[in-house]
Amino acid sequence: MKVFAMAGSVRAQSFNKKLLALAVSQLQAAGAEVDVYDLKAANLQQYDADIEVTSGLPAVVVDLKERIAKADGLLLVSPEYNYSIPGVLKNAIDWASRPPATNPFKGKLVAQMGATTGQGGTLQAQSAIRHIMVGCMAWSLPGWFVVSKAQEAFDEQGQLKDAAQKEQLVKFLKRFLDELKGG
Ligand SMILES: Cc1cc2nc3c(=O)[nH]c(=O)nc-3n(C[C@H](O)[C@H](O)[C@H](O)COP(=O)(O)O)c2cc1C
Repeated sequence: MKVFAMAGSVRAQSFNKKLLALAVSQLQAAGAEVDVYDLKAANLQQYDADIEVTSGLPAVVVDLKERIAKADGLLLVSPEYNYSIPGVLKNAIDWASRPPATNPFKGKLVAQMGATTGQGGTLQAQSAIRHIMVGCMAWSLPGWFVVSKAQEAFDEQGQLKDAAQKEQLVKFLKRFLDELKGG
């Protein structure tokens, strides 16, 4: 199984990057091949339809699309910004979805999760991702895995402190891989 994984934060000390790293190591331990996309390194310019029409997709976008297309499933790990997802993540999704004829999201299974320093566990951002992914013709894995009060949730090794939450993450990722394998 090939998984394309991306965090929606570009912050060096990002809790979502920590959560992504945890998930990636578990997916790899379960035998999946994971391609981790670095949104900060990609440094995508803002989506501009004029660029798409006049000079075509930038090389960095072509690379993003190819990497998504190669994957069997996607893992998006996103913070919540103002009850939705960060613009940097939406911008990457918007670029990658263009043009519709080569939309690499079509038919892919997308697992999503998120961490926030707030109490609400990114539930509204997760709903936004589901909504966006439906627009991209992708399938959203039902259910949730979210981390609230992220500043208290991780230990110094980047592991989740709470045993029940650790177990939930294992179950969530197993369900993702089981679905990718065909249920
Ligand atoms: C512009 C902005 C808006 C935010 N809005 C929300 C929000 O609506 N809900 C929430 O739970 N946290 C919100 N936060 C707090 C983030 O969850 C917190 O900064 C988190 O650590 C960001 O993720 P990261 O650690 O992966 O960078 C917001 C933060 C920023 C910078």
